Amino acid sequence: FGIAASHRPLVGRHVLVTAGPTWEAIDPVRYIANRSSGKQGFAIAAAVAALGARVTLVAGPVALKTPAGVRRVDVESARDMAEAVRRALPADVAVMVAAVADWRPKEYRGEKIKKRGDAPPALMLTENPDILTNVAGGTRRPALVIGFAAETDNVLENAKAKRKRKSADWIVANDVSGDVMGGDRNRVTIVSGDGIEVLDEMPKSAVAMALAERIAAVFRVEAA
Ligand code: CTP
Ligand code: CA
Repeated sequence: FGIAASHRPLVGRHVLVTAGPTWEAIDPVRYIANRSSGKQGFAIAAAVAALGARVTLVAGPVALKTPAGVRRVDVESARDMAEAVRRALPADVAVMVAAVADWRPKEYRGEKIKKRGDAPPALMLTENPDILTNVAGGTRRPALVIGFAAETDNVLENAKAKRKRKSADWIVANDVSGDVMGGDRNRVTIVSGDGIEVLDEMPKSAVAMALAERIAAVFRVEAA
């Protein structure tokens, strides 16, 4: 069994992954959202599943196939995502890759808002729950909580501050000032309590496997 264990080091672990955007409805035909293809999160779900983990993937609206061996829960809004995450706990690891919309319209209009030719409607917003902060600070905190941070500037400083503010173990920072959004490659830096690790630009699938291996290493050390 030594060989099997070394190839599938996450057997017996439950990994929770969030991915994709959330949609915050304004009326039946309109919404606000963050930009996200879901590709990096789905790749991470696939990678940890390949290493033997039981995986729950809470996905916002994306056009992607469910990776093999992954249980997928589809959601639309941030509040739906928060609820699905709560139901999926406990987990050994949480990887929050979703680009959660920070705000939602203060009120939802059940009928389509019509253009009237005068001033456009003012959109009043209210803040969504911070799913990562709630999971990292909650009573059923996974042993390893990982957040993502898409930044256009001051990438490292912002990532370090986010790690502290959200009580995450690691923040995976990516610089989205270029054209990585929606693409198949990514360049990330892993910020942990031990320091920072800069990975080369590589396919999102390779970023996912690199991260999955680092996750597995945490549990290998723990089990030793
Ligand atoms: N996140 C979350 N729930 C939210 C907002 C963010 O779980 N309501 C998670 C994301 O999934 C990501 C991490 O928090 O793992 C960082 O998200 P980010 O948008 O970079 O951080 P914010 O705190 O929202 O800060 P800002 O958007 O102002 O940079
Ligand atoms: Ca945000």
